[in-house]
This record gives sequence, C-alpha cells and structure tokens, in this order.
Amino acid sequence: MNPSLSKFMLARTPKHILHPKPTMNTAIPLNTGATIPALGLGTWQSAPGEVKAAVTHAIEAGYRHIDCAYCYQNEDEVGEALQDVIKRGIVKREELFITSKLWCTFHTRTEEGLQKSLDLLKTDYVDLYLMHWPVPMNPNGNHPLFPKLEDGSRDIDHSITHIDTWKNLENLIKSHPEKVKAIGVANYSVKYLEKLLPQASIVPAANQIENHPLLPQQEVYDYCKQKGIHITAYSPLGSTGSPLFKDETVLEVAKKHSVSAGCVLLSYHLARNSSVLAKSVTPSRIDENRKLIALDDSDLEKLASIPKKDGIKRFVYPPFGVNCGFPDKTDGIDLSG
Ligand SMILES: NC(=O)c1ccc[n+]([C@@H]2O[C@H](COP(=O)([O-])OP(=O)(O)OC[C@H]3O[C@@H](n4cnc5c(N)ncnc54)[C@H](OP(=O)(O)O)[C@@H]3O)[C@@H](O)[C@H]2O)c1
Repeated sequence: MNPSLSKFMLARTPKHILHPKPTMNTAIPLNTGATIPALGLGTWQSAPGEVKAAVTHAIEAGYRHIDCAYCYQNEDEVGEALQDVIKRGIVKREELFITSKLWCTFHTRTEEGLQKSLDLLKTDYVDLYLMHWPVPMNPNGNHPLFPKLEDGSRDIDHSITHIDTWKNLENLIKSHPEKVKAIGVANYSVKYLEKLLPQASIVPAANQIENHPLLPQQEVYDYCKQKGIHITAYSPLGSTGSPLFKDETVLEVAKKHSVSAGCVLLSYHLARNSSVLAKSVTPSRIDENRKLIALDDSDLEKLASIPKKDGIKRFVYPPFGVNCGFPDKTDGIDLSG
C-alpha cells in the first residue's frame, strides 16, 4: 500500500469500517506500506523450556505475529520454534511478522544488536525492529544487559541520547534493508516523540506501549494516530496476576457478548485500530486468545469509565529509574533530550 494512503487510513478511517469482523490476523497498515497482523504472541517472561513449545503451538494454531526481544533472553528458543515450523511446512517465513528489539546496552551498537537477534531467531530479517526503551545504558558496564553503578543505580550512558540511537536505527535500515523491514520505538511518551520527530528522517512505524483499560494512554494514542505511528499494545491482559480479569465492567461487556474477559481485553485494541500482544505459554490460553470480536461504541465507553472509577494503573515499570515522560510517571531522571 502507498505509505501516504496507509497514513491516511491510520488517521482517518473509522474503526467500525476498518474492522467489521476482526480476526487475529486482520492486517493493519503501517506507514511503511506493509501491514501488521492484529494479534501477536508475547514472549516476555516465557521461560526457557516453555517458549519453544508456546511459539510452535501458536503458529500451528494460526498466529502469524510473534513479539520478541534480545533482552528476554529466550530468542534462541523462539528461533528453534521458527526453524521447526518453517521446516515442517506449517508456514513460510514471509507469512510471519517477527518483531525484535534493540536492548539499552546496544544503543551505540545497533548493527551488532540486530545481528545477535537475527542469529538467535535463525532468520535473515525481522519485520519490525524497535528501540526497546529510550534509555541508553553503558555497553561496558558490570553487566551485559542490566549494568549498575556502585551505588546500585542503573549505569546510564549519558554520552548519547535516544535521538542519536534513532539515527543509528535509521542508518541501520538504510544500510541493511534486507535485514530489517521497518523500525519503530517502544515506551515512547508524547514528550519523547515531540523531541524525536523533528530530528527524524524516518517516522517510526510503530510505538509499542503498555495499554489496557486501566491505562488507556489516550494522549500518546491520539498523538501517534495523528502522526501515522501504529500503536501496539503490550500487557493487554494486565500482565502476570492481573486484576483485569475480575473487573466488573470488563465482565459486564464480556457477558453482553457471551465471551471471556480476556476476549474483551484483547478486542479493545482492535476497536482502536491497534495491534495487541498476548503472552501465554499455556496451549488452551493461546487458543482462547485467538478469538477477537468487534466491540461497539457503548462497550468502549464502558471500558473508558474504568480509570474514572479505579484510577490508572501501570503494571510494567522501566528497569532503570528513568521517567520516560508518561504523565503518570513523575519520579526518576528525564532523558527526553
Ligand atoms: N516493549 C516493552 O517494553 C514490553 C513490555 C512488556 C511486554 N511486552 C510484550 O508484550 C507481551 C504481552 O505482555 P505481558 O507478557 O506483560 O502480559 P499479558 O499478555 O498482558 O499477560 C500475560 C499473563 O496473562 C496470562 N494469560 C494469558 N492469556 C490468558 C487467558 N486467556 N486467561 C488467563 N490468563 C491468561 C499469562 O499466563 P500463562 O503464560 O501462564 O498462560 C501471563 O501470566 C510480552 O510478552 C512482550 O512480548 C513488551
């Protein structure tokens, strides 16, 4: 699709026209002209020994979008699953949408970071490569992933900014278009995007953010929509031990449609034209999470009332005491630049 058309669709097309009957693989346009499947399998906290079976089961069950990251320390097993399903003819590589992420200690080493993920995932390219957090950390610190200073605080690399990292990613996709099909960001607030976009020659294809009815992220959602940046929702179920499955408003909407609470929580994002990542290593849940339905405006209004009653709640915090500029995060240093 023509990039300007996909940008227009992202910004203007009413959701009820876009997805009258959403499915797990409804193709949502990116500003690159490519599309991203609506539902992705999350792999964070999927333990080694479990994640290969989970990814294999998901792809056999029809998932075509897998969300990975170097920092999850399980990309090698994800890669084994990918290799296996492709070898067995279950799916072709080009039918899959694989996302990986540049970890914070690799901001000055984007090519090395990408190649490590490609080698582990046993694939020649990723469909989307995201800056995992806009926080560069010391590549030569006391730990390869989570370096700390002597006082116990995170060892942040103040010699570069997230804007420099983005330029490194732009150079990466320009010099290796065969290895990375699109670049994007994650955990970017409006404040950070406002600093980044005037300096960017490539508009991020996506911004992956924590998003669920207890954290609607309306400000960054509206901003990204206006700029043609696709939103992917992470922790849509409220992550491990979530209270969202018992929320009475979610249950009311679920009852109305005769579906599970999980189905409402995942379908919420399709109604907003976002893609959504659901993590599970449990085969029955991987199967259950495939079901997506069209929610109507009254459902969305009900779900929007949850934070008015319960306040907003974030389940995932950055692992480094940095304020990434989200309105609900007031502590930590500001690296927005
Ligand atoms: N960019 C970032 O910084 C970032 C941060 C966080 C997450 N992510 C991505 O987003 C993905 C999803 O987020 P998440 O892993 O935090 O949380 P999530 O998908 O909201 O929730 C996962 C939890 O819900 C359980 N679960 C899954 N389906 C269920 C169902 N139908 N009924 C009941 N429980 C269910 C899972 O258990 P079992 O596995 O035991 O079944 C797991 O404990 C991650 O895996 C990762 O790929 C990205």
